[in-house]
Amino acid sequence: MTGFIIVQPQVRPFVAHIQLNRPKELNALNLQLMQELRDALRELDADEQVRVIVISGNEKAFAAGADIRQMAGLTAMDMYNIDQFATWDAIKKIKKPLIAAVSGFALGGGCELAMLCDMIVAAETAKFGQPEIKIGVMPGAGGTQRLTRAVGKALAMEMVLTGKFISAEEALKSGLINRIVPVDLYLEEAFRLAAEVAKQSPLAVKMAKESVLRAFDSTLDEGLHFERKNFYLLFASDDQKEGMNAFIEKREPVFTGK
Ligand code: HXC
Repeated sequence: MTGFIIVQPQVRPFVAHIQLNRPKELNALNLQLMQELRDALRELDADEQVRVIVISGNEKAFAAGADIRQMAGLTAMDMYNIDQFATWDAIKKIKKPLIAAVSGFALGGGCELAMLCDMIVAAETAKFGQPEIKIGVMPGAGGTQRLTRAVGKALAMEMVLTGKFISAEEALKSGLINRIVPVDLYLEEAFRLAAEVAKQSPLAVKMAKESVLRAFDSTLDEGLHFERKNFYLLFASDDQKEGMNAFIEKREPVFTGK
Protein backbone atom coordinates (compact mmCIF):
# COMPACT_ATOMS: atom_id res chain seq x y z
CA MET A 1 0.00 0.00 0.00
CA THR A 2 1.37 3.41 -0.90
CA GLY A 3 1.54 5.94 1.87
CA PHE A 4 -0.52 9.11 1.68
CA ILE A 5 1.57 11.22 4.05
CA ILE A 6 5.21 12.28 4.28
CA VAL A 7 6.67 12.63 7.76
CA GLN A 8 9.76 14.72 8.58
CA PRO A 9 10.37 14.31 12.31
CA GLN A 10 12.89 17.19 12.62
CA VAL A 11 12.22 19.92 10.08
CA ARG A 12 13.50 22.44 12.67
CA PRO A 13 14.80 21.73 16.18
CA PHE A 14 11.87 20.08 18.03
CA VAL A 15 9.50 20.70 15.08
CA ALA A 16 8.03 17.89 13.00
CA HIS A 17 6.23 18.21 9.67
CA ILE A 18 3.55 15.96 8.21
CA GLN A 19 2.62 16.60 4.61
CA LEU A 20 -0.65 15.19 3.27
CA ASN A 21 0.35 13.64 -0.01
CA ARG A 22 -2.49 12.64 -2.35
CA PRO A 23 -1.94 15.53 -4.74
CA LYS A 24 -3.92 14.16 -7.70
CA GLU A 25 -7.04 13.95 -5.52
CA LEU A 26 -6.36 17.32 -3.84
CA ASN A 27 -5.47 15.41 -0.67
CA ALA A 28 -9.00 14.01 -0.31
CA LEU A 29 -9.01 12.41 3.13
CA ASN A 30 -9.67 8.73 2.60
CA LEU A 31 -9.74 6.29 5.51
CA GLN A 32 -6.17 5.14 4.96
CA LEU A 33 -4.80 8.68 4.92
CA MET A 34 -6.57 9.51 8.18
CA GLN A 35 -5.29 6.32 9.81
CA GLU A 36 -1.75 7.10 8.68
CA LEU A 37 -2.10 10.63 10.00
CA ARG A 38 -3.37 9.37 13.37
CA ASP A 39 -0.53 6.84 13.65
CA ALA A 40 2.15 9.40 12.73
CA LEU A 41 0.74 11.95 15.16
CA ARG A 42 0.68 9.42 17.99
CA GLU A 43 4.28 8.49 17.26
CA LEU A 44 5.40 12.13 17.19
CA ASP A 45 3.40 12.86 20.35
CA ALA A 46 5.49 10.21 22.12
CA ASP A 47 8.81 11.42 20.68
CA GLU A 48 10.79 13.58 23.13
CA GLN A 49 12.61 15.24 20.26
CA VAL A 50 9.34 16.69 18.96
CA ARG A 51 7.47 19.54 20.64
CA VAL A 52 5.27 20.97 17.87
CA ILE A 53 3.83 19.40 14.71
CA VAL A 54 3.03 21.22 11.47
CA ILE A 55 0.50 19.65 9.12
CA SER A 56 0.38 20.87 5.52
CA GLY A 57 -0.87 19.85 2.13
CA ASN A 58 0.59 21.35 -1.03
CA GLU A 59 0.18 24.68 -2.79
CA LYS A 60 -3.07 23.74 -4.53
CA ALA A 61 -4.80 22.08 -1.59
CA PHE A 62 -4.49 21.51 2.10
CA ALA A 63 -7.31 18.99 1.64
CA ALA A 64 -10.50 19.16 -0.44
CA GLY A 65 -12.50 17.14 2.06
CA ALA A 66 -13.30 13.56 2.86
CA ASP A 67 -12.98 11.22 -0.11
CA ILE A 68 -16.32 11.52 -1.88
CA ARG A 69 -15.63 8.52 -4.13
CA GLN A 70 -14.96 6.33 -1.10
CA MET A 71 -18.15 7.49 0.65
CA ALA A 72 -20.58 7.72 -2.25
CA GLY A 73 -21.94 4.16 -2.18
CA LEU A 74 -21.93 3.58 1.56
CA THR A 75 -25.00 3.00 3.70
CA ALA A 76 -25.63 4.46 7.14
CA MET A 77 -24.72 1.08 8.64
CA ASP A 78 -21.46 1.03 6.66
CA MET A 79 -20.67 4.47 8.02
CA TYR A 80 -21.53 3.30 11.55
CA ASN A 81 -19.36 0.19 11.25
CA ILE A 82 -16.41 1.95 9.61
CA ASP A 83 -16.49 4.45 12.48
CA GLN A 84 -14.22 6.86 10.66
CA PHE A 85 -14.44 9.46 13.38
CA ALA A 86 -12.42 7.26 15.73
CA THR A 87 -9.31 8.57 13.96
CA TRP A 88 -10.50 12.16 14.42
CA ASP A 89 -11.17 11.51 18.11
CA ALA A 90 -7.64 10.13 18.45
CA ILE A 91 -6.16 13.22 16.78
CA LYS A 92 -8.13 15.43 19.20
CA LYS A 93 -6.21 13.71 22.01
CA ILE A 94 -2.75 14.69 20.70
CA LYS A 95 -1.18 16.74 23.47
CA LYS A 96 1.44 18.65 21.49
CA PRO A 97 0.39 21.73 19.53
CA LEU A 98 -0.63 21.17 15.93
CA ILE A 99 -0.24 23.95 13.38
CA ALA A 100 -2.05 23.72 10.06
CA ALA A 101 -0.20 25.32 7.15
CA VAL A 102 -2.91 25.93 4.57
CA SER A 103 -2.50 26.84 0.93
CA GLY A 104 -5.32 26.46 -1.58
CA PHE A 105 -8.42 24.46 -0.69
CA ALA A 106 -9.31 23.57 2.89
CA LEU A 107 -12.81 22.24 2.32
CA GLY A 108 -15.19 19.97 4.18
CA GLY A 109 -13.07 17.53 6.16
CA GLY A 110 -10.04 19.58 5.09
CA CYS A 111 -11.40 22.68 6.80
CA GLU A 112 -12.37 20.50 9.76
CA LEU A 113 -8.84 19.06 9.97
CA ALA A 114 -7.36 22.56 9.92
CA MET A 115 -9.76 23.55 12.71
CA LEU A 116 -8.78 20.46 14.70
CA CYS A 117 -5.28 21.94 14.73
CA ASP A 118 -4.46 24.57 17.33
CA MET A 119 -3.36 27.35 14.99
CA ILE A 120 -3.69 27.99 11.28
CA VAL A 121 -1.15 29.75 9.08
CA ALA A 122 -2.60 30.47 5.66
CA ALA A 123 -1.22 31.42 2.28
CA GLU A 124 -2.97 34.27 0.44
CA THR A 125 -4.42 31.59 -1.83
CA ALA A 126 -6.20 29.70 0.96
CA LYS A 127 -9.92 29.03 0.59
CA PHE A 128 -11.94 27.67 3.47
CA GLY A 129 -15.37 26.11 3.15
CA GLN A 130 -17.86 23.51 4.30
CA PRO A 131 -19.42 22.59 0.95
CA GLU A 132 -20.99 19.31 2.11
CA ILE A 133 -24.47 20.81 1.66
CA LYS A 134 -23.87 20.80 -2.10
CA ILE A 135 -23.44 17.02 -2.11
CA GLY A 136 -26.54 16.32 -0.04
CA VAL A 137 -24.98 16.01 3.38
CA MET A 138 -23.57 18.26 6.06
CA PRO A 139 -20.29 18.60 7.98
CA GLY A 140 -19.56 15.59 10.16
CA ALA A 141 -16.13 16.15 11.70
CA GLY A 142 -16.74 19.33 13.66
CA GLY A 143 -17.69 21.79 10.92
CA THR A 144 -20.91 22.89 12.57
CA GLN A 145 -19.26 23.16 15.98
CA ARG A 146 -15.66 24.37 15.67
CA LEU A 147 -16.46 26.73 12.79
CA THR A 148 -19.33 28.31 14.74
CA ARG A 149 -17.13 28.76 17.80
CA ALA A 150 -14.38 30.29 15.65
CA VAL A 151 -16.32 32.65 13.36
CA GLY A 152 -19.70 33.02 15.07
CA LYS A 153 -23.18 31.97 14.05
CA ALA A 154 -23.81 34.34 11.15
CA LEU A 155 -20.86 33.37 8.97
CA ALA A 156 -20.85 29.72 10.05
CA MET A 157 -24.52 29.34 9.20
CA GLU A 158 -24.00 30.95 5.79
CA MET A 159 -20.99 28.76 4.99
CA VAL A 160 -22.66 25.55 6.16
CA LEU A 161 -26.03 26.25 4.50
CA THR A 162 -24.75 27.57 1.17
CA GLY A 163 -21.36 25.89 0.89
CA LYS A 164 -19.70 29.22 0.06
CA PHE A 165 -15.94 29.43 0.37
CA ILE A 166 -14.24 32.23 2.24
CA SER A 167 -10.89 33.77 1.35
CA ALA A 168 -7.86 33.88 3.60
CA GLU A 169 -8.65 37.56 4.19
CA GLU A 170 -12.19 36.80 5.39
CA ALA A 171 -10.93 33.88 7.45
CA LEU A 172 -8.46 36.18 9.21
CA LYS A 173 -11.08 38.86 9.78
CA SER A 174 -13.50 36.36 11.27
CA GLY A 175 -10.98 34.76 13.63
CA LEU A 176 -10.61 31.40 11.90
CA ILE A 177 -6.89 31.69 11.22
CA ASN A 178 -3.81 33.21 12.82
CA ARG A 179 -2.14 34.91 9.87
CA ILE A 180 -1.80 35.23 6.10
CA VAL A 181 1.51 35.13 4.26
CA PRO A 182 2.53 35.03 0.60
CA VAL A 183 2.18 31.57 -0.85
CA ASP A 184 5.92 30.95 -1.19
CA LEU A 185 6.35 31.63 2.54
CA TYR A 186 3.41 29.86 4.16
CA LEU A 187 5.29 26.71 5.11
CA GLU A 188 8.30 28.68 6.31
CA GLU A 189 6.06 30.86 8.45
CA ALA A 190 4.34 27.80 9.95
CA PHE A 191 7.76 26.35 10.83
CA ARG A 192 8.80 29.70 12.29
CA LEU A 193 5.69 29.87 14.48
CA ALA A 194 6.20 26.23 15.49
CA ALA A 195 9.83 26.96 16.43
CA GLU A 196 8.70 29.88 18.58
CA VAL A 197 6.40 27.53 20.54
CA ALA A 198 9.04 24.78 20.59
CA LYS A 199 11.41 27.11 22.50
CA GLN A 200 9.05 27.12 25.50
CA SER A 201 8.73 24.47 28.18
CA PRO A 202 7.04 21.51 26.47
CA LEU A 203 5.19 20.66 29.68
CA ALA A 204 3.81 24.16 30.08
CA VAL A 205 2.89 24.21 26.39
CA LYS A 206 0.93 20.95 26.59
CA MET A 207 -0.93 22.01 29.72
CA ALA A 208 -1.62 25.44 28.27
CA LYS A 209 -3.05 23.86 25.09
CA GLU A 210 -5.21 21.55 27.18
CA SER A 211 -6.44 24.49 29.23
CA VAL A 212 -7.30 26.71 26.25
CA LEU A 213 -9.22 23.83 24.64
CA ARG A 214 -11.08 23.30 27.91
CA ALA A 215 -12.65 26.74 27.41
CA PHE A 216 -14.81 25.20 24.68
CA ASP A 217 -16.12 22.40 26.88
CA SER A 218 -16.74 24.00 30.22
CA THR A 219 -18.40 26.77 32.15
CA LEU A 220 -16.14 29.67 33.11
CA ASP A 221 -15.82 28.39 36.69
CA GLU A 222 -14.95 24.84 35.59
CA GLY A 223 -12.44 26.19 33.08
CA LEU A 224 -10.83 28.46 35.66
CA HIS A 225 -10.60 25.54 38.08
CA PHE A 226 -8.96 23.37 35.39
CA GLU A 227 -6.52 26.16 34.52
CA ARG A 228 -5.58 26.66 38.18
CA LYS A 229 -4.83 22.94 38.70
CA ASN A 230 -2.54 22.90 35.66
CA PHE A 231 -0.88 26.10 36.84
CA TYR A 232 -0.18 24.55 40.26
CA LEU A 233 1.00 21.31 38.67
CA LEU A 234 3.66 23.11 36.64
CA PHE A 235 5.36 24.07 39.92
CA ALA A 236 6.31 20.37 40.15
CA SER A 237 8.47 20.74 37.01
CA ASP A 238 12.16 21.59 36.64
CA ASP A 239 11.13 23.86 33.79
CA GLN A 240 9.22 26.18 36.17
CA LYS A 241 12.34 26.60 38.33
CA GLU A 242 14.54 27.02 35.26
CA GLY A 243 12.21 29.54 33.61
CA MET A 244 11.81 31.73 36.67
CA ASN A 245 15.48 31.52 37.72
CA ALA A 246 16.59 32.36 34.18
CA PHE A 247 14.41 35.47 34.31
CA ILE A 248 15.91 36.54 37.63
CA GLU A 249 19.47 35.79 36.43
CA LYS A 250 18.80 37.68 33.17
CA ARG A 251 19.64 34.75 30.89
CA GLU A 252 17.77 32.58 28.37
CA PRO A 253 16.08 29.53 29.93
CA VAL A 254 16.99 26.01 28.86
CA PHE A 255 13.86 23.90 29.07
CA THR A 256 14.13 20.13 29.28
CA GLY A 257 10.53 19.05 29.60
CA LYS A 258 11.18 17.63 33.07
C1 HXC B 1 -12.61 12.78 -3.84
C2 HXC B 1 -11.83 14.63 -4.92
C3 HXC B 1 -12.29 15.46 -3.88
C4 HXC B 1 -12.94 14.84 -2.76
C5 HXC B 1 -11.37 16.70 -5.37
N1 HXC B 1 -11.26 15.43 -5.81
N2 HXC B 1 -12.00 16.75 -4.19
N3 HXC B 1 -11.98 13.29 -4.89
N4 HXC B 1 -13.08 13.50 -2.80
N5 HXC B 1 -13.38 15.55 -1.73
C6 HXC B 1 -10.64 14.98 -7.07
C7 HXC B 1 -11.50 15.28 -8.26
O1 HXC B 1 -12.51 14.31 -8.40
C8 HXC B 1 -10.50 15.24 -9.37
O2 HXC B 1 -10.23 13.89 -9.69
C9 HXC B 1 -9.23 15.82 -8.72
O3 HXC B 1 -9.44 15.67 -7.29
C10 HXC B 1 -9.04 17.29 -9.02
O4 HXC B 1 -10.24 17.97 -8.71
P1 HXC B 1 -11.01 18.93 -9.73
O5 HXC B 1 -12.43 19.01 -9.28
O6 HXC B 1 -10.76 18.52 -11.13
O7 HXC B 1 -10.26 20.31 -9.44
P2 HXC B 1 -10.84 21.79 -9.56
O8 HXC B 1 -11.66 21.95 -10.79
O9 HXC B 1 -9.66 22.68 -9.35
O10 HXC B 1 -11.85 21.95 -8.32
C11 HXC B 1 -11.36 21.92 -7.03
C12 HXC B 1 -12.54 21.78 -6.02
C13 HXC B 1 -13.38 20.54 -6.38
C14 HXC B 1 -13.39 23.04 -6.02
C15 HXC B 1 -11.88 21.61 -4.64
O11 HXC B 1 -12.50 19.41 -6.57
C16 HXC B 1 -14.39 20.17 -5.34
O12 HXC B 1 -15.43 20.79 -5.21
N6 HXC B 1 -14.14 19.12 -4.55
C17 HXC B 1 -15.05 18.59 -3.58
C18 HXC B 1 -15.10 19.47 -2.35
C19 HXC B 1 -16.08 18.92 -1.35
O13 HXC B 1 -17.29 18.80 -1.60
N7 HXC B 1 -15.59 18.57 -0.14
C20 HXC B 1 -16.38 18.04 0.92
C21 HXC B 1 -16.39 16.53 0.89
S1 HXC B 1 -17.45 15.78 2.07
P3 HXC B 1 -10.18 13.40 -11.23
O14 HXC B 1 -9.93 11.93 -11.12
O15 HXC B 1 -11.50 13.77 -11.81
O16 HXC B 1 -9.04 14.19 -11.81
C22 HXC B 1 -16.60 15.94 3.51
C23 HXC B 1 -17.27 15.38 4.75
C24 HXC B 1 -16.37 15.51 5.93
O17 HXC B 1 -15.54 16.42 3.56
C25 HXC B 1 -16.85 14.73 7.11
C26 HXC B 1 -16.07 13.53 7.45
C27 HXC B 1 -14.59 13.64 7.53
